[in-house]
Amino acid sequence: MNKAPVRIGVLGAGGRMGAAIIAELGSGSWPGLALAGAIERAGHPDIGSRLGEAFGPAMTLGSNPQPLAHASQVLIDFTTPAALEATLDACCDGRAALVVGTTGLEPHHHALIDRAAANIAVLQAANTSLGVALLSRLVEQAARALGPDWDIEISELHHRQKSDAPSGTALALGASAARGRGIDLGQRSERGRDGVSARRQPGNIGFSSLRGGTAAGDHMVLLAGDGERIELWHRAENRVIFARGALRAAAWLAGKPAGRYAIDDVLDLPDR
Ligand SMILES: NC(=O)c1ccc[n+]([C@@H]2O[C@H](COP(=O)([O-])OP(=O)(O)OC[C@H]3O[C@@H](n4cnc5c(N)ncnc54)[C@H](OP(=O)(O)O)[C@@H]3O)[C@@H](O)[C@H]2O)c1
Repeated sequence: MNKAPVRIGVLGAGGRMGAAIIAELGSGSWPGLALAGAIERAGHPDIGSRLGEAFGPAMTLGSNPQPLAHASQVLIDFTTPAALEATLDACCDGRAALVVGTTGLEPHHHALIDRAAANIAVLQAANTSLGVALLSRLVEQAARALGPDWDIEISELHHRQKSDAPSGTALALGASAARGRGIDLGQRSERGRDGVSARRQPGNIGFSSLRGGTAAGDHMVLLAGDGERIELWHRAENRVIFARGALRAAAWLAGKPAGRYAIDDVLDLPDR
């Protein structure tokens, strides 16, 4: 007997990521998933408009997370941190799981996620690319295996419009390296170097950022020993990889017990 597709609700449907996720769902590549509905910020000019040919004329854009959470098994959130509390409340009320892709979360947002995760399954990921999820695990293992004699440097390239540096993904990769080393990244990171006293400190993790053009995001983790180097690269060619990773995460999360999950859990790798 065929299993019914997992019902997916999309938040921020008018945004770049929300639109990419809805386009993926309508592409026919995800037979195990079905769009249950989508919402935008209240007052958004597109509220009431159709969601696209692939989903039939009856499906229109709404603004209330409560009915969406009741109609969906998993919600996918790529909006703003300010929207998170209402989304978590709606998911707890509707017993829906949640994939949080929104970035810029502060400690109090993480506390809200932890609280909701006592009742529902929540997967939060600043980068939903499965390639980056794997890279993150590889970096942790490499840092652990090679030990403190190997210098670790993380560099990233992003488009000219990106305002923050280093990227959240570079910092997450740094956190993986620090975990592997058993050190505190906050105490041991070097961000950019300039001037005559810029020699790296042994055991620190260095970061450098390049900006230019339209690059979606390249990350390179360098492990440099005496007389040899390892370079671990990930190159994002477009935002579709984040949409696909979020959908893979949603499919994986459906039916999982309450708790907080991370994107590398989706890869089903051996435990650390
Ligand atoms: N995890 C990842 O891999 C990944 C990848 C890419 C982006 N991101 C993050 O995902 C977020 C969205 O990125 P984006 O590029 O798609 O941004 P965007 O184009 O600005 O889209 C965000 C959308 O959410 C809408 N929105 C705001 N408040 C809402 C609410 N309360 N309910 C429903 N919708 C609401 C916005 O509407 P208005 O414009 O009308 O306010 C906008 O349409 C950002 O935090 C970004 O950094 C994460």
